[in-house]
Amino acid sequence: MIQFRSLFARLMTTFFIITLCIMLVLGILLSTFFKSYIMETRKEELIREGSAISQYVGLYLTGLIDTRVLHYQYQIIDRFLGTTIWVTDERGNIWSSHNSTQLEEVDWENQKVSVDEFVQVLDGNTITLEGRFGESFPEPMLTVGMPLKLNNSIRGTIFLHSPIQGLNRTIMNTYNSIWRSAILTSILSLLLSFIISGRFSRPLTEMNVISREIATGNFKRRVKVRTKDEVGQLAVNFNAMADSLEKLESMRRSFVANVSHELRSPLTSMKGYIQGVLDHTIPVEDQDKYLRIALDETERMNRLINELMDLSRIETGQFSIDIKVVDINEIIRRVLISKEDRINDRGMEVEVDFEKDIFMVVGDPDRLQQVIINLLDNAIKFNREGGLLTFKTWLFKDNVYVKIADQGPGIAKDEIPHLWEPFYQIDKSRTRNKEGTGLGLPIVKKIIEAHEQNIWLNSEEGKGSAFIFSLKAVKKS
Ligand SMILES: Nc1ncnc2c1ncn2[C@@H]1O[C@H](COP(=O)(O)OP(=O)(O)OP(=O)(O)O)[C@@H](O)[C@H]1O
Ligand SMILES: [Mg+2]
Repeated sequence: MIQFRSLFARLMTTFFIITLCIMLVLGILLSTFFKSYIMETRKEELIREGSAISQYVGLYLTGLIDTRVLHYQYQIIDRFLGTTIWVTDERGNIWSSHNSTQLEEVDWENQKVSVDEFVQVLDGNTITLEGRFGESFPEPMLTVGMPLKLNNSIRGTIFLHSPIQGLNRTIMNTYNSIWRSAILTSILSLLLSFIISGRFSRPLTEMNVISREIATGNFKRRVKVRTKDEVGQLAVNFNAMADSLEKLESMRRSFVANVSHELRSPLTSMKGYIQGVLDHTIPVEDQDKYLRIALDETERMNRLINELMDLSRIETGQFSIDIKVVDINEIIRRVLISKEDRINDRGMEVEVDFEKDIFMVVGDPDRLQQVIINLLDNAIKFNREGGLLTFKTWLFKDNVYVKIADQGPGIAKDEIPHLWEPFYQIDKSRTRNKEGTGLGLPIVKKIIEAHEQNIWLNSEEGKGSAFIFSLKAVKKS
């Protein structure tokens, strides 16, 4: 359906009106130009004929040729054009005339030229006139009058009358071809504007339809990119936007599903234990134990909710970092002390390799502590029993680099990009990661990004993983 207000219709009418205007102006210009061109050419022709005639009349008057030859010359000079030729004396008496079509019944000889312009011709001027030459002709004529000169003195005049109708026919024919080609061009331009307008408006119409579909939640369709111009770029960007919207939507869905799932399992077990205590299916001596488990579950939920709130604060931009100058080595030391028991429980060794004792960096101490805790938690959780934990800090150019490495199972290359997504956990059943939720690393990444720094992961399957992040060093002056 073409709507009149649609881009397509507008483009088409614009193109068409422009072509129509051009055709109109061109047609009018060409027509007037041709008309005057044809008239001018005919005038010149008549003047040329007139001079030829004057030469033969001269020959006739000096007796070198007779009337028969003169008339024969008239015929040669004007064979097709239906010109009436008059030759007059100084008083305007026509003493020789000729009409090539032989159609004219009037015998002009011995008649008199009565038109005022005759005097001008006799004065030596060549004149051109359009009209019936007084009342001499029943139809309009193009008339050329010129003096008849013999030995440089004017002895009379020559008038040549050519019917304008004949010229008009030529002019009309030219007009016809001009207008016919103008109409043809207009039709062609209508066709072309139809195609071009379609090309222009199709991607936009498509984007319009698809954006409406996206608004209703269908993210599947994409626009076909046909050109490399602005519209093509718009299509590319539109598709990129649809891609990211689709990804965002699926992330949102899985996020909600994950959160509900993570909340449901502790709630279910808590509900079970409390119910057991209340209806005495759990013996009184075991009640403390199960209530403690329920308490642990509430703590887990609490932690999960805190992490979720952190993440959402970071994502909505409400997360502010309180930049200070801090010693990163000191933060690491403190975290290590707080986790000492857990490390010793697993029989792990810790190796600390600080390039310098103190490394002052720019950052939010609490957030950086959270980063180290999350990374160390993972390292402890995934390290092999009795494995080595390594901490390393060093300076390179303007940055201090922090590395936390373990000797756990490592992480496969294709898993690495997903680690930073919320709730992503590598094969939960295989690892002994029962207590995790997959929010630790996304929070780490967001904090590092908020510091405008980077985090990398070096990992070899079976050998262990090493997380390295950068911090802005403070140079001592
Ligand atoms: N050092 C590591 N060695 C091996 N795998 C790791 C290591 N650190 C993280 N992973 C993998 O990445 C996943 C995501 O880690 P992340 O810290 O985000 O979540 P989590 O530790 O499972 O849960 P949370 O940190 O929220 O308690 C982990 O489940 C684990 O599969
Ligand atoms: Mg973790």
